[in-house]
Amino acid sequence: MNLVITIDGPAGAGKSTVAKILAKRLGYLYLDSGAIYRALGLLAKEERVDFNDEEKLVKLSQKIKFLKLEWEKELRVYLGEREITKDIRGEEAGRWASSVSRHPKVRKALLNIQRGFLANGNVVAEGRDMGTVVFPDAFLKIFLVADLKERARRRMKDENVPFTSENIERFSELIRKRDEQDSERKTAPLKKAEDAVEIDTTSLTPSQVVDIIENIVKKKLSFK
Ligand code: DC
Repeated sequence: MNLVITIDGPAGAGKSTVAKILAKRLGYLYLDSGAIYRALGLLAKEERVDFNDEEKLVKLSQKIKFLKLEWEKELRVYLGEREITKDIRGEEAGRWASSVSRHPKVRKALLNIQRGFLANGNVVAEGRDMGTVVFPDAFLKIFLVADLKERARRRMKDENVPFTSENIERFSELIRKRDEQDSERKTAPLKKAEDAVEIDTTSLTPSQVVDIIENIVKKKLSFK
């Protein structure tokens, strides 16, 4: 049976960076579930599908089966032949993803794609509901948190936005709103699984966070 390590938490807590390094170190596959919702959000925006129209979004999610997550040096995301890596990044695309991900039927339609990753090997799975819904029996569950301002700074760095106090306020507010929407939805909200280990990454480097997780993995594996 293949193993899965889940990494959940709010926007900017360091999930992607940490998940990628951890997957590399352990030789596991990397599942960026946010990329799946971001791809659907992008499609909805481009095809002018209303973010409130659950049935149309479910139909559109059929196209997600053509999604490919290719990961060597960086993660590259393709929808069929088209590369959408850059189109799905940024806070705006995050907001679209958050909006389409509110719908229970949309989440259900995307469940098997995510679980399917486990057929190909051990997986580090990153998102909001990896430990609570998608992989409730995961080998190890991690929940990352960090101060809001620090999370805003990280996102600004990703998007090359200057660190002015005005920008920090603006990004803090965008992230706060997205977390609120992700936490308050009825289906699979952003929530720490009861058996998850919480790590505050505010003053840690990604490599320090990965060291902590790797130590837990090693301990658990030695007891297996
Ligand atoms: O992790 P991210 O910023 O790429 O995620 C974008 C949005 O997608 C997030 O705000 C909510 C949604 N999402 C989700 O609902 N469930 C997941 N497992 C991952 C992401």
